[in-house]
Amino acid sequence: MEDFDYEQEALNDLDYRSSNKGPWKKIFKTVLLHKGLAIGLILSVIMLATLDVCYPLLNSHAIATYFESDNPNRFNTIWLTVSAYIGVSLAYGVCVFSFLYFAGRVEVETSYELRKEAYLNLQKLPFSYFDKTAQGWIMARVTSDSRKLSEIISWGCVDLLWGLLSMFGILGVLLVTNTKLSIIVLIILPILIIITFFIRKKMLSSYRDARKENSKITAAYNEGFMGAKAIKSLVIEDMCSKEFHSKAHAYKRASLRAVFFSAIFGPITFILCYVGVGVTLYYGGNLVLKDLLEASVLYLFIDYTIKFFDPVISISRVIGDFQQAQASAERIISLIEEQPEITDREDVIEKYGTIFEPKYENFEPLVGEVEFKDVTFKYAKGEEVLKNFNLHIPAGSSVALVGHTGSGKSTIVNLICRFYEPTTGDILIDGHSYKDRSITWLHSNIGYVLQTPQLFSGTIMDNVRYGKLNATDEEVIQALKTVAADEFISKLDDGYQALVGESGSKLSVGERQLISFARAIVADPKILVLDEATSSIDTQTENMIQMAVERVMEGRTTFMIAHRLSTVVNADVILVMKDGCVVESGTHHELLMKKGYYFELYKNQFAEDALQKILNN
Ligand SMILES: Nc1ncnc2c1ncn2[C@@H]1O[C@H](COP(=O)(O)OP(=O)(O)O)[C@@H](O)[C@H]1O
Ligand SMILES: [Mg+2]
Repeated sequence: MEDFDYEQEALNDLDYRSSNKGPWKKIFKTVLLHKGLAIGLILSVIMLATLDVCYPLLNSHAIATYFESDNPNRFNTIWLTVSAYIGVSLAYGVCVFSFLYFAGRVEVETSYELRKEAYLNLQKLPFSYFDKTAQGWIMARVTSDSRKLSEIISWGCVDLLWGLLSMFGILGVLLVTNTKLSIIVLIILPILIIITFFIRKKMLSSYRDARKENSKITAAYNEGFMGAKAIKSLVIEDMCSKEFHSKAHAYKRASLRAVFFSAIFGPITFILCYVGVGVTLYYGGNLVLKDLLEASVLYLFIDYTIKFFDPVISISRVIGDFQQAQASAERIISLIEEQPEITDREDVIEKYGTIFEPKYENFEPLVGEVEFKDVTFKYAKGEEVLKNFNLHIPAGSSVALVGHTGSGKSTIVNLICRFYEPTTGDILIDGHSYKDRSITWLHSNIGYVLQTPQLFSGTIMDNVRYGKLNATDEEVIQALKTVAADEFISKLDDGYQALVGESGSKLSVGERQLISFARAIVADPKILVLDEATSSIDTQTENMIQMAVERVMEGRTTFMIAHRLSTVVNADVILVMKDGCVVESGTHHELLMKKGYYFELYKNQFAEDALQKILNN
């Protein structure tokens, strides 16, 4: 039964009763990107509906010609009738084929376009969007919503169009053939439509209730099993069971109601249909007996009355489907139209181009001087993380940021990378506000290594090359050698061409990190950012990376956030952060001499390490 498909829908879809047409307009526009297909589909549906209406006419004509008339020559033209039947059958075949073909293609193309648009827009959205939007939500939009919509847009619209055309086609023919008898159909029709829609609505709403109750039960199951220990220790088994029982009962009631309405839907439309046929037969039959009507016309009316119900049912179904898909439509359009919070100004785009069409010829070379000028910053949610923050880093320095979790280290590098922008104040790069240059200009000069390396399926070479798409094999291999990754790569069967698996699953985290390191430096970035790049790997790999970092840092401005202080002792300047402020700064040596906060941090970690060593032995 088709209605069980709806079980798949997310619960929040179900309360949707808005009639906002906005998203549909946009989705239709997407369909019209392929005008030829849309026109082909509409034409084949029109043809199909016409044939559906014509077929009984042909039968009726045959009855009138061969059974009602006693003209002795009436069989002379039988070849005409036979050819007409053959013609209609062939036309049917062609129509059904082309309608299936076009509807299928419209479905595929629409789903492709929606996904493409959503994907393109996702590329434009800044880091902050992915911070606040669950990955699962985005995945569901580009997969299930786009599929659901393209399905309803193609097959749903076809059903709707076909339903309307055949309904009005049939009515038209009836009115022309016999106005009086048509009035019977015209009286039954509204009753039929109202009852059909009513039952269907009841059916859908009871399914909706059942699903709501079901999700309550799932939640109760979760609590009951996950919290089994707590429930037992609190001795509330009895209360929990009663509560569960009442939920289960509500679910049962709602489900039974749904079953009742879906069971009754078919028979009721069936009965209505045959009541219609009965009434037509009664009146029409009387007219035939009185010789006021030909039997062939009566046949036509009966056939049409039966045929009338299919379009009504299919229209009511499609309208229900559209309502169900409303939420999907709104969500996918919201994804397609989501505006990035961080964008380049018009004049900047004019000069430097967009993400997809950068004007590299206008990009100034980046030197690497970074300055925070009176920067205050807060995330969309939460309080100020930085307040009147000032910092000047000369080009080519290596900067280490240390401090407890939550002290604002990542925030600083996120701001430098322009993943976020200062709430007030400005960040200057090479003496210019970075908003005066394009985001692409900045990003093409920054190498960024995160705590958890992100690889993509493909070979090791491919993964490094994402750092610079036109890098030669030599450059890629050189980058891998610089980070001392060649050592483990030489042990792999396929060497540099080894496949890394989905998200790099075939490699260890440390190996993945070495590759993402190589990726960061193959582009020869002027600013290199390492945000806890070594915290998720073992000490041995960490030492290897440490040596690589020293080599790579030369000639670049490097921001290094490290959990382990031993890795930052060689930095030109160490910034010690606390609650969004730099509380101390200087070289490792200077800071130790100060005997301040850094000294404490260092001492504590030293003691911790020593303790760890003792515990490990
Ligand atoms: N995306 C975010 N949205 C809201 N608050 C955030 C976000 N990221 C970090 N914060 C908050 O900003 C503060 C600084 O965080 P962060 O810069 O990540 O610190 P660190 O990298 O030093 O551990 C913390 O209080 C943290 O809770
Ligand atoms: Mg951090």
